[in-house]
Amino acid sequence: MPIAKNESGNKSALLILVFINYILGQATGGCAFCFWSLIIMVITVSSIKGGVGKSSVVLLLANNLASRGRKVLVIDTDLNNTVTVYYTMGIGRIGEICERQNISLAFSQGRIDGKNIIQSRKENVSIVPSSLRLLDQRSMENVDIKKVLRSAKGFNDIIIDTSPTYDSIVAGAWMAADLILSPVKFTEYNFNMSACLMSKMRSVTPEQAKKTYFLFNHWSEQYAKFPTSMQNLVLTMYRQNFDNLLSVTLPDTRFVDRYTNFDEKCNVHSLQPGCARLAKGINELINMIYDQNTVVEVF
Ligand SMILES: Nc1ncnc2c1ncn2[C@@H]1O[C@H](COP(=O)(O)OP(=O)(O)OP(=O)(O)O)[C@@H](O)[C@H]1O
Ligand SMILES: [Mg+2]
Repeated sequence: MPIAKNESGNKSALLILVFINYILGQATGGCAFCFWSLIIMVITVSSIKGGVGKSSVVLLLANNLASRGRKVLVIDTDLNNTVTVYYTMGIGRIGEICERQNISLAFSQGRIDGKNIIQSRKENVSIVPSSLRLLDQRSMENVDIKKVLRSAKGFNDIIIDTSPTYDSIVAGAWMAADLILSPVKFTEYNFNMSACLMSKMRSVTPEQAKKTYFLFNHWSEQYAKFPTSMQNLVLTMYRQNFDNLLSVTLPDTRFVDRYTNFDEKCNVHSLQPGCARLAKGINELINMIYDQNTVVEVF
């Protein structure tokens, strides 16, 4: 079940696109039905609550998609810089580069192009770094932010990390998305913040609320067995109040920290606690989004 459609996609447009793709494939001697590689999907990962796993989900999704051979652009609109640091680790003079190439300058220029994009240390992943100057751009119009975030050319997927807040940049990132994922931790406070996110979204950009899904991060099989566990209590609150819950869950595991900070790889066959479950969860999530049935074993 694909849970998102790209913005340009109604059924007839999709058929025309498939036909053109077929002709192009024949003409160039390439793959006849490489439609999979033509789709541009913009995924925004957002939550008003901090520390729920937004940046971790961005990295895991981007790296898995890149391992499938897709060209991925990660856009970092979070002042915390987490994904920028991850993707630029070890690149020489990166501080200076990020001063000259970043999302804030892209917003000023009105588009994302080669001037703002950096090839990351990971194959098939490029990044538009964050910038402290975003602080001065929070009054930009949502629609202008949306336009810039969708302007990059030559990528199959654009994945946007956001700040744990609500401002015009976050709202613009919602508007730019074909799919919005909101990771959730099992606390009552997170539930309140999720309710706040949905209410803000319905008032600012109601059509995007229908593209928003809650993703249970920090899932514990152990707590699932106890009806009175906080996990089950919070889960019940979500089930009673929302119908946009993903069936895929991501496990609560310290491996996420090892992945982000020690550059370990996710491996579906790993014996390390949490690693295989995380790898399977991310594969499942991507297959659900893109209606695929592929398992990337290591990413
Ligand atoms: N499923 C998980 N299991 C255990 N730890 C996790 C999980 N997901 C994320 N973490 C850890 O939680 C911390 C916060 O994660 P992350 O930075 O991805 O959250 P965030 O929502 O982007 O935070 P912020 O709002 O500050 O940007 C990190 O230390 C990360 O390693
Ligand atoms: Mg973050």
